[in-house]
Amino acid sequence: MKLLVVGSGGREHAIAKKLLASKGVDQVFVAPGNDGMTLDGLDLVNIGISEHSRLIDFAKENEIAWTFIGPDDALAAGIVDDFNKAGLEAFGPTKAAAELEWSKDFAKEIMVKYGVPTAAYGTFSDFEEAKAYIEEQGAPIVVKADGLALGKGVVVAETVEQAVEAAHEMLLDNKFGDSGARVVIEEFLDGEEFSLFAFANGDKFYIMPTAQDHKRAYDGDKGPNTGGMGAYAPVPHLPQSVVDTAVETIVKPVLEGMIAEGRPYQGVLYAGLILTADGPKVIEFNSRFGDPETQIILPRLTSDFAQNISDIMMGVEPYLTWQEDGVTLGVVVASEGYPLDYEKGVPLPEKTDGDIITYYAGAKFAENGKALLSNGGRVYMLVTTEDTVKAGQDKIYAQLDKQDTTGLFYRNDIGSKAIKD
Ligand code: AMP
Ligand code: GLY
Repeated sequence: MKLLVVGSGGREHAIAKKLLASKGVDQVFVAPGNDGMTLDGLDLVNIGISEHSRLIDFAKENEIAWTFIGPDDALAAGIVDDFNKAGLEAFGPTKAAAELEWSKDFAKEIMVKYGVPTAAYGTFSDFEEAKAYIEEQGAPIVVKADGLALGKGVVVAETVEQAVEAAHEMLLDNKFGDSGARVVIEEFLDGEEFSLFAFANGDKFYIMPTAQDHKRAYDGDKGPNTGGMGAYAPVPHLPQSVVDTAVETIVKPVLEGMIAEGRPYQGVLYAGLILTADGPKVIEFNSRFGDPETQIILPRLTSDFAQNISDIMMGVEPYLTWQEDGVTLGVVVASEGYPLDYEKGVPLPEKTDGDIITYYAGAKFAENGKALLSNGGRVYMLVTTEDTVKAGQDKIYAQLDKQDTTGLFYRNDIGSKAIKD
């Protein structure tokens, strides 16, 4: 069986690698992928994620059994609808179902309608009204662009002035284009953040291990927001009762609500949560796997991934099993300057073997050789599974110490919250 994965990052590397390790899978193509993936035997296809008809032609010509869609923008552009119209199976939500991610206002409406706990909010397209709401609510307060903004459209404002400035930039200065033509302004939720992922099809869902990402660029949660600088799973200090509550009050009602709305959800549902004094509340939904969370969740899957996905798509009960003990931890290595401007073309260290997995994101072969060079903001990620978070950190940071990371940087405290608590 041949499979196709759409996307090019570390997330897609982890998905494709796991699919290739499944029984009965002979070949996994990634479109467009990145050169680092070829070191794991994956085949790259030079077609962009927005070229739906070329992807469909490729899938037909190569007898692809089904396609796994990685990125949010592809889902928001209706890639699953287009594949389905062409008679092809694709794992991921339709455009209408993915609106849970591509419109924060839509996600809020669904949550309010179906009683899902989330921050109080208002949605505005008029700056003066937004400003009046911010002044009335006071700070801290959170200002979010309604649409997709590469994880950069959220400002957690500590003062009223910062919040008003953020609303001004989005609504009047067009900082995020159409994505910021409306803003969601919401209550600041105080508590620890974690992510809950589920495979879903209609009202059937299967929860994955909990994960914690590190979104800020620098140690101690300082610096600008990024796509994510490292993660670990499961979150050892998170009680099972919190996960059970999140399943009952968040995952179940949202999936049932989406059916009631005529937008049944199939794919990975990602709930970004904050554990407040009143229990877990939603700060965002994503309609896909997280990056870098996938890279630390999928190594824990001990069942046959391709079979699992195919069963979930067919509405058959999947046989899913996860490694129960230990913690999987990963540190992202990024280009110096990321998430702002950065240079490309920095030589990368050798791929690791054995207990440490290297997943590549922005990596490209040099023109006249096999040396891998950096080619993006997030470049690669080292992942290991150990008994404890501390042991995972020791292993990864010892490896990073040995690598030449000139021109690159990484956080030194991935997982430290789990150790302090
Ligand atoms: P998002 O892009 O929605 O994941 O938001 C980026 C980051 O902003 C999150 O990872 C949180 O740390 C923070 N954030 C978002 N919404 C809230 C909220 N209502 N209260 C506190 N922090 C928030
Ligand atoms: N790790 C954050 C995201 O994938 O959105």
